[in-house]
Amino acid sequence: MLVKNLFPSITLWHLAIFITIFINQFIESAYLINRDMSLNRSNVPKNILATSLIGRNYTAQSIHYRSIPQVIFENEYFNRKRPLEMINPFNEDDYFKLIATIKGAAVQSYLPYYKIYEQVAKEINADLFVCDYLINHPCFDLAWKLGKPAVVIFTDTFYVSSPPYKSNPIYRHGCHANMENESFYNRFKCEIIFPLRNSWNTIDAIKDLNAQRAIVGVDPLWNMKGRVSNLLILTNNFFGYEIPSADSPLHQEIGPILPDTFPSLTPVIDSFLSTHPRTIYFALGTNVIIPPQKAIIILKSFLELINENVIDGLIWSYGKTDISKLSQSTNSSIPLSTILNNEHPHIHISKSSPQFAILSHENTKVFLSHGGAASCHESMYTATPMLVLPIFGDQPRNAEKLEFAGIALKLSKMNLKVDDIVSNIKRLLNEESFKKNAERLQFLAKVNSKRKYRGADLIEVVMNTVKYEGIEDENGGFKIDNENLLRDWITPDTRMGFIRGKYLDVYGVAIILFLMLSGGFVYVLLKTVRYIYIKFRSGNVNSQASLKSKRE
Ligand SMILES: *[C@@H]1O[C@H](CO)[C@@H](O)[C@H](O)[C@H]1NC(C)=O
Ligand SMILES: *[C@@H]1O[C@H](CO)[C@@H](O)[C@H](O)[C@H]1NC(C)=O
Ligand SMILES: *[C@@H]1O[C@H](CO)[C@@H](O)[C@H](O)[C@H]1NC(C)=O
Ligand SMILES: *[C@@H]1O[C@H](CO)[C@@H](O)[C@H](O)[C@H]1NC(C)=O
Repeated sequence: MLVKNLFPSITLWHLAIFITIFINQFIESAYLINRDMSLNRSNVPKNILATSLIGRNYTAQSIHYRSIPQVIFENEYFNRKRPLEMINPFNEDDYFKLIATIKGAAVQSYLPYYKIYEQVAKEINADLFVCDYLINHPCFDLAWKLGKPAVVIFTDTFYVSSPPYKSNPIYRHGCHANMENESFYNRFKCEIIFPLRNSWNTIDAIKDLNAQRAIVGVDPLWNMKGRVSNLLILTNNFFGYEIPSADSPLHQEIGPILPDTFPSLTPVIDSFLSTHPRTIYFALGTNVIIPPQKAIIILKSFLELINENVIDGLIWSYGKTDISKLSQSTNSSIPLSTILNNEHPHIHISKSSPQFAILSHENTKVFLSHGGAASCHESMYTATPMLVLPIFGDQPRNAEKLEFAGIALKLSKMNLKVDDIVSNIKRLLNEESFKKNAERLQFLAKVNSKRKYRGADLIEVVMNTVKYEGIEDENGGFKIDNENLLRDWITPDTRMGFIRGKYLDVYGVAIILFLMLSGGFVYVLLKTVRYIYIKFRSGNVNSQASLKSKRE
């Protein structure tokens, strides 16, 4: 009744507002001017050198980057030693081995990369360095030496600075991405013991790195994190997926960074997907090599799910995994040759496939992934629930974040079982919440994917700052001090030292004063109570005495 009565008046009310706005616009338009949005880009340094020390030779093949001149060269250390493959990623002790090899790689790659970067910087007259963070010390050091600004690009600020409640499950032993509900013991271990042990293991690598630095005349630095303390760090990440924290203005999220176009479905995969309405996509990225026994366990699980008619399709993109070894690790219980020859009616396999297009297809229901950052972003962007089998690096942490966000379940690489895979896939398909959360994250991912333009703007802000802060040299370039360049964004606490920066002195004195005052108060209170007690007692005694005397 009420709604019915109110309804006409609300529409009239709306109409009135609308007319008012319209008339106001009409009248005001006579007084409006357009905001000048042009930027004065004259005299702003423009040449950017972007470098990454670890990575694959993929940009050259991508049409998106063809207009950008590229220098691609083999990292001999990685190609000779192949640290990522050398370590058995399915070994329990891989963390410290991985760290050791990465530190070795940092030292071994330092000089060759420094020299290449230096040569390219000279040739293009680089005004600004964009440095991928991972062991890319030559990039930061060269920028520092040449007095050029550097901007850091990385997936996550976790490795540079993070609040204590964020940790890394790769340490194992009770460390998690989010330490919110962990015991004191675990929090102590993950915040103090493991980082200390890590620093201890790092000392030799830093010594070696400083020896390399000395050869090219770069000052030593005793911080394994590198010369990044006052640089702008752009992270390919977003809150909702990442655990929320208050970051320095120097650390800005611009992720998920995704290209605007992706390779489309091949005709074969297109027809496979359109005829298999409940398909699982299985791909572990380009670096993960899965042992044959584990691949067999996963295949068996899928066959069981197909038999039970829970799913009806599987697309397996096997990457670097050597599928010719599969037959050695199984008996004839699974139709391996049928699968490998792509003759199985419900299974399609290929070395690589158009992942984003597959994830975008409505018939792709679940993504079994290793949890690499790009795969996670693509999965969230397409609202595809995930089953994550994290192997190394940031993957265990990503898996926990996805699970916490309610879009994924995770598997244990050490304890991979058919039953777990089957029951997890059933949960992902049957429980409404996974799809709902995936759609919630999809909205976040889509909105935030616009921020790559913000990232470009921020880099331009840094370049423009150089114009005002730098000292012009004879070539028209500017020399700056990376430690102070971005003082508008550097929080004062970093200059105040640990105690003053965290106001520990003030809080310390406040606590002492509070204790003293409350101690004094308690003292006075006790004294008073005692006084009253004595008074009362003696009064009692007196009155009793007087009573007695009265009786007598
Ligand atoms: C742009 O900046 C330059 C100096 O950096 C100055 O000479 C020029 O006048 C400015 N142009 C405009 C349109 O303000
Ligand atoms: C990188 O890839 C391109 C295109 O596939 C190829 O021509 C080039 O030789 C590769 N470079 C290296 C160093 O592997
Ligand atoms: C910790 O516990 C609280 C309260 O039960 C819950 O809201 C929160 O999600 C938990 N956090 C994690 C990381 O499990
Ligand atoms: C072969 O099958 C039997 C029974 O199904 C099983 O116990 C055995 O572990 C299998 N062997 C391999 C190598 O998978």
